[in-house]
Order: sequence, then C-alpha cells, then structure tokens
Amino acid sequence: MNFAEQYGPWAVVAGASEGTGRAFARKLAAKGIPSILIARRAEPLAALAKEIHAETGVACVTACVDMYTSEAPKKIIAAAGNREIGLYIANAGADVQGARFFDRPISDWLDHVHLNVMTTLQCCHHFGGLMRARQKGGIILVNSGACYGGASFMATYSASKAFVLNLGESLWADLHPQGVDVLNLILTQTDTPAFRKMLADKGMALPTKWATAEEVAEVGLARLPHGPTYNWGQEDDVVGYAPISAAARRARLLAVDEMSKAVFGKG
Ligand SMILES: NC(=O)c1ccc[n+]([C@@H]2O[C@H](COP(=O)([O-])OP(=O)(O)OC[C@H]3O[C@@H](n4cnc5c(N)ncnc54)[C@H](OP(=O)(O)O)[C@@H]3O)[C@@H](O)[C@H]2O)c1
Repeated sequence: MNFAEQYGPWAVVAGASEGTGRAFARKLAAKGIPSILIARRAEPLAALAKEIHAETGVACVTACVDMYTSEAPKKIIAAAGNREIGLYIANAGADVQGARFFDRPISDWLDHVHLNVMTTLQCCHHFGGLMRARQKGGIILVNSGACYGGASFMATYSASKAFVLNLGESLWADLHPQGVDVLNLILTQTDTPAFRKMLADKGMALPTKWATAEEVAEVGLARLPHGPTYNWGQEDDVVGYAPISAAARRARLLAVDEMSKAVFGKG
C-alpha cells in the first residue's frame, strides 16, 4: 500500500491551527489526504483550510473543540462523522505553564490531564478500534523527552507524557500485527508559536538550536511505519537523552508481548 492507501482517506489532526499540527495537515494534504482540523480558535483553522485548498485542491474540515474539557472526545468523534479516519495525530499537548506544581491551581493541571490523558485515550480507543477492524491506519502521538522521567517545573507534563509513551507503546504491540502503525514522536525543543509564547512570557531567550515544525512533521510521517518510538534527531539504536534507545524499546516490547501472551492469551 502507498501512503494514502495505508493512512487515508482522512486524517484527524488534534491541535492543528499552528506549529507542528499545522505542518502535519499541510504535508498530509500534499500527499492527497484531507484532515479534520481540530483546535479552539476558529480563525486560524479556517485560514489553514483555505490555504491548503488553494495550494493542493484538498478540502479539509474544521472543528473548534477545547480539549481541556471532558466533552472533547465526543466532539472530535462527531466532527469526524462517518468519514473513514486512517490517521489520528494527537498533536496538542504542550505545557503552557512551565511552572512548579504548587505554584498553579490544580484546575490548570486537571486541564492538562484532560488534554494529554483523557482525550488521547478516548480518541485512540475510538479511531484505533476502527483502524484495527480495517487492518490498516496509523496513530502518531506527539510526545516529549519529558516522558522518560520526572522533572522540575514539569510534574504534570512529564507524568501525562509518560502515560502517552506507555499507551502508544502498548498500542503498537497490540496493533502492529494487525496492520496499524503507532508512533510516539518524541520531540526536543521545536520552534512553535506556543513554545515561543511561553519563552516570551517568562522573558527567556530563544534556543540557539531547535527543530522546525516542518522538519518534525516530515520526519514524523516518515517514521510512522517504524514505531513504537522515534527520539528526535537520533538514530534508532542511539540512547541519547532517552534511557534506552528506540530499538531497545522495540525489542523490550516484543519480549514483553511474548510474556503477555503466555499470561493473557493470544487474542
Ligand atoms: N515546542 C516544543 O519545543 C516541544 C518540545 C517537546 C514536545 N513538544 C510537543 O509537541 C506538541 C505540539 O506542541 P506546541 O509547542 O505546538 O504547542 P501545543 O499547545 O501543544 O499545540 C498547539 C496547537 O494545539 C492547539 N491546542 C492547544 N491547546 C488546546 C486545547 N485545549 N484544545 C484544543 N486545541 C488546543 C492550538 O490551537 P488553539 O490555541 O487554537 O487551541 C495549536 O493548534 C505537543 O504535544 C508538545 O508536548 C513540543
């Protein structure tokens, strides 16, 4: 199968109005795949859909959904309607606070858990289940090096991204033999409006070296068949900032899969 056959006819990009999400939607359109573009702000979504249509002739659909709320998964699923979703990209998920745990109200952290944990879990269950039935498709979970352990200023972020890491790896083990690809795309510093805004709010300098959103989207789509993990800027067998390499994580999962089958059955 070519890319569009494996991951089309439609994609959902959750967090599409700017940065890496926007870049994913544009790259998918260039491959002939229209996206359901999800974010809170209507204007940048509409502008993106118009731009994509003018450039490629591909017609995207937009939906304003606040993924900090418990209704978000239902609204995303409703926006997809009866379109066949071959690719789900959980992109939004940055920590816009960059604050110590006790310096923000718990409501901020609960919003973040809704975004990264509840919405991701429910959308993966819905769209991934349909992909499993069709024996094709893909899920990209845009993640962060913070997923590999706790970190000051990032308590809820690192905990929620660890959830995403383990969810994605587990789904890879379950879905890969069924023809569905799953990738944790683990980023380091990337030039996005959200990250720029957080740095500006704190009066911090811009990084001297960071990835562009376009590079991230390009590599993410290219690495999707080679899950479960891609560590930004690193070869598969390099450990780098991760505790073990992507190749070792894959080998570990396959060994655990054999043990799991012995305990839980082959189904
Ligand atoms: N930038 C980095 O340096 C960096 C580093 C490591 C990992 N990452 C990961 O890369 C991904 C993208 O990060 P980012 O820096 O672009 O910031 P982000 O805030 O995660 O993503 C921005 C996009 O998500 C949408 N969004 C944010 N909150 C939303 C909500 N509650 N409901 C619906 N849509 C929402 C924004 O549109 P609206 O404002 O219109 O809703 C925008 O389209 C995240 O998962 C992040 O953890 C980024």
